Amino acid sequence: MSHNPAADSGGDQIRRAFSPPPKRGVRAKLAHESSGHDWWHIHRVVRTVRTIAREEGADGFVCELTALLHDMADDKLNADPAAAQRELEAWLAASGVGPETAAHVLEIIATMSFKGGSRPPMRTLEGKVVQDADRLDAIGAVGISRVFAYSGAKNRPIHDPSVMPRERMTEAEYRSGNDTAINHFYEKLLKLKDLMNTDYGRRMAEERHRFMEAYLDRFYAEWEGLS
Ligand code: ADP
Ligand code: NI
Repeated sequence: MSHNPAADSGGDQIRRAFSPPPKRGVRAKLAHESSGHDWWHIHRVVRTVRTIAREEGADGFVCELTALLHDMADDKLNADPAAAQRELEAWLAASGVGPETAAHVLEIIATMSFKGGSRPPMRTLEGKVVQDADRLDAIGAVGISRVFAYSGAKNRPIHDPSVMPRERMTEAEYRSGNDTAINHFYEKLLKLKDLMNTDYGRRMAEERHRFMEAYLDRFYAEWEGLS
């Protein structure tokens, strides 16, 4: 590419680099998705990645491309995740981005979706940025909305003071079980700000965290008829 990459965003570079644009395929695949990983989740992660990448001096092209593709092979969205992974690898190989970029994108996605006790830390700045943006989408006003949407889809209650948040849980317990929307704040959302990788991501997370705390204060006050 002969242009000055500093002068335009990763999105501009992505539009120039691909035909057809990857956005079209990603959007088609996620059109009927209802687990909270719909197209608009991708849209928000791409926008957030753009903000953090600019502030942190990360490669916007790699960050935005990875954000666009990060859920394509996820086991929540695919009956056959291994086939989806092969499809993603084949698409990247044919895309013209080059083997180094393709390997970088795939490494970030694999580290993000790592299942199991202690997740390995992200190796590269671009990985840190994309993981931060994905986590940020689970907190703040949008994160609150996603919790209630997810809980409703699973027929779970908004709140039940007799159900305690769970301290430790396995992947299976996290996915199923006796849970409420409010408990999910304690089981996941309020923990995310301490997991941020980048300074700018952490600043954004702290702001969203304060908003969630204020929301919970009001929620309990209203629950008790006090405000
Ligand atoms: P990811 O691991 O990709 O962040 P999850 O499937 O854990 O995705 O979560 C998707 C969205 O649904 C997130 O915003 C998350 O907070 C919400 N969610 C996940 N599990 C629960 C739950 N038990 N109760 C309420 N919301 C949940
Ligand atoms: Ni995501």
